[in-house]
This record gives sequence, C-alpha cells and structure tokens, in this order.
Amino acid sequence: MTDLKPARILALESSCDETACAVIENGRALLSSVVASQMELHARYGGVFPEVASRQHVLSIVPVVEQALADAHLSFGEVDAIAVTRGPGLAGSLVVGLNAAKGLALGLGLPLVGVNHLEGHIYSSWVYNAGEATPPEPQFPLMALLVSGGHTELNLMTDHLTYKRLGSTLDDAAGEAFDKVARLLGLPYPGGPSVQKAAENGDPTRFHFPRAWLEDTWNFSFSGVKTSVLYEVNNLKNRSGSLPVDDLAASFQAAVVEVLFKKTMDAAREFGAKEILVAGGVSANRALRKAFQAQREFKVHIPPLALCTDNAAMIGAAGYFRYALGHVSDLDVDVQPTWPLSRLKPKPR
Ligand code: KG4
Ligand code: ZN
Repeated sequence: MTDLKPARILALESSCDETACAVIENGRALLSSVVASQMELHARYGGVFPEVASRQHVLSIVPVVEQALADAHLSFGEVDAIAVTRGPGLAGSLVVGLNAAKGLALGLGLPLVGVNHLEGHIYSSWVYNAGEATPPEPQFPLMALLVSGGHTELNLMTDHLTYKRLGSTLDDAAGEAFDKVARLLGLPYPGGPSVQKAAENGDPTRFHFPRAWLEDTWNFSFSGVKTSVLYEVNNLKNRSGSLPVDDLAASFQAAVVEVLFKKTMDAAREFGAKEILVAGGVSANRALRKAFQAQREFKVHIPPLALCTDNAAMIGAAGYFRYALGHVSDLDVDVQPTWPLSRLKPKPR
C-alpha cells in the first residue's frame, strides 16, 4: 500500500478498561503507545465495573494523550488526523474517548476517524516499532481469527477493510470462557492470563473436556466446555474436597486451543487463504501462539504481546487505512456499543 497518502495519526482507545493513546505513521510505524490499565481497580469486583471504568477514563485520558505525544517527541501541530474507537464496547467508556477525540479534532482543525475496535485488533499485525526493520505486510486473501473477551469469529479478508464473516461463536467468546473458568477454579482476575499461568504447571491430558466442532459450519461454541469444567469441579470437590487446579486449567486450555487452531487452519485451506492472522486478547495465549507457530503450512501473523490486548496503536493503524481510503467521520457521530465487522464499509474500488 505504498500509493496511499502519508499521515501521522494520534489515536485514542477507551472501549473497556484500558485508557490508551498512540502516535503512528502511515498505519505501521509506531512512534509511541501508552496504555493506562485499570486492572487493579476492577480486580476486587472480579470483572470490569462499567461506571468505575468510565470515571477512570475521565481521569486518565488527558495524561495519556500528553504522555503519548511526549514519548513521540511531537506537538499537536505535527499530527494529521485523530482516530478513536467508536465501538464495540461499553457505552460509558467509549463516550470518554470519543468526546476527547472530538475536542482534539475540533480544536486542532483535524479530521476525525471513528474506528471499529475489532478492525483495530486485526490491524495490530500491521504495526511495528518505528526505527526497526519494516516487516512484510500481511497478504490477502487472509484468514483472520479474532479472539477477544467479547468476540470470537473467523473472517476472510480479501483486501484492506474488506471482511467476509465465515462464522462466530454461538454463545461465549473464547476470552469470556477463560474468564469464567478462572472464576470456577478460584483464579484471580483477569482470567485468561491466570488460567495460562496455572496451565503451565498442569497436565493437559488429565481431563478430556469436549471440543465443539460444529461440523459443516465455521461457528464456535465454548459454553459446553465451560459447563463441563463446572461439573468436573463439583465432582472433585464432592469426592476429595481439593482441586487439581493446574491440570483442570491445562485441560481446559488444550480444548479451547485445539478448536481455535484446527478450525482456522481448515478455513484457510478451504477458502484459499495465503496467510493467517490471529488477533484479540486471547492471541496473547502462549499455547495458542505455539500451535500456530509450530505449523509450516501458512505464514501466521500474531501481534507482539503488548499489541494483543487493548491498545491505541492498533486503532491508529486501522484508522490510517480508513483515513487514507477516504473514510472520515462527522463530528456529530455517536458511539456504537454494538458494531459487527460485517457492517463496516469495505475498501472503495
Ligand atoms: O482484546 P481484549 O483485551 O479486550 C476485548 O476486546 O475483549 O481481550 C480481553 C480478553 C479477556 O477475556 C482475557 O481473559 C483474554 O483476552 N486474555 C487471555 C490472555 N490474555 C488475555 N486469554 C487467554 N490467555 C491469555 N494469555
Ligand atoms: Zn479488545
């Protein structure tokens, strides 16, 4: 995409419990990325408390913007456009980032680019640190597995900004299943990383949890495996009183990873994809990364750990491609708490 107009984007992200700002050039070269995590604030509730999240965004948003500009050694006058997450996410959290971005766009006389958070996760694989060697861009057609706390879906990307949803979860998202199983096992919030940590000391073959293959569809289902863990936990508690938490975590993780990996590989073959892309918070999972990295059939793009979970660099990357291809937002746009990728405008022909 060397023919697109160059632009330096300042991007904001506040869809859930991270307040983030980044500065990125041409959708790829990352100049700075600041993430203020609210993890400790929500840990006592065992999950994200929406009103606490929005109020913390109000406190963090300006310092995060100032830090991102300072880290990039830039002033507001050296930015070409403002990108911001419009959705999906928590309405009260999204409002804070969107209003800050509108204020910046209005005050600086810059274009505003509203970005879909899921598209952001996908574009995290375009990002690299400025000053380092430029890695090759993901090539289309691309099979994209999106696995986050709220979404699990397979999309075929035939071009920039162009998605064909092949399937998605019929119930829990993969990240949600990790979070719920963590709670069942008495592991701390956030669930994904603590299940992964416990699983590292466990035997993934000790328990056989069900794999929902949902033959002849590209859909997923993770509520069965979660319920199966619940029954096993109750059984074990009744019998011995103690829980082999590490083995349960490892066996659960193995069941989820096997389905995500195999279905993505099958879909890539079936639809003639050149490469595979994995994105979203669950792409930080070591077992999932290992599964994809161990195969040699497809080149796989998985972002570095810092870009797997929520950040603004990915919003700047997606925002750049939207901006460069003419998708600029009006200053009166609202947040979009529910906003599937399938409802986005594709790349103009
Ligand atoms: O993308 P993300 O940061 O936020 C959403 O857009 O949802 O994803 C958060 C999800 C949570 O469910 C979290 O438990 C999961 O990603 N997650 C992980 C890991 N790190 C984060 N799941 C499994 N293993 C991990 N290492
Ligand atoms: Zn996310």
